[in-house]
Amino acid sequence: MIDDTLLAYIKQQYQLQWDGIHGIDHWTRVWRIGMFLAPLTGANQKVVGLFAFIHDACRQTDKADRHHGMRAARLAARLNKEHLGLDEHELELLDRACRYHDRGMISKEPTIGTCWDADRLDLWRIDCRPEKSYLSTGAAMDDEVITWAQGLIRRTQ
Ligand SMILES: [Fe+2]
Repeated sequence: MIDDTLLAYIKQQYQLQWDGIHGIDHWTRVWRIGMFLAPLTGANQKVVGLFAFIHDACRQTDKADRHHGMRAARLAARLNKEHLGLDEHELELLDRACRYHDRGMISKEPTIGTCWDADRLDLWRIDCRPEKSYLSTGAAMDDEVITWAQGLIRRTQ
């Protein structure tokens, strides 16, 4: 997971309910799914792990929030100066993964695709089965993986 200092920083600027639909429980599941997928997809694990805790951290509403991906990308850039230690390429990947994760796109780039798949496989939390047409990686499209992600909800709620 991420270190306590970084999580505390993210928490103090988070405007919504900490254990709400887009809060810490969701981020933790996205992290777990991302860490499972990354070795299978060849994704950069550091970027995927950070995406989990940053991508929704700047939401201003749990409803449609058109610019929350862009705000998350800006937060990543701010955090990188003191906390993240990403190189230029990693920061570019995290920027793109955060910036466009709310646009319903898929990506052939393994790290970005893995970030988005980890997020979408947690759609079970709102009783929504992840659609394969909105998944980027073959690993995430595996029926057993989709069912496993559903099981994470049952165990944590
Ligand atoms: Fe999310």
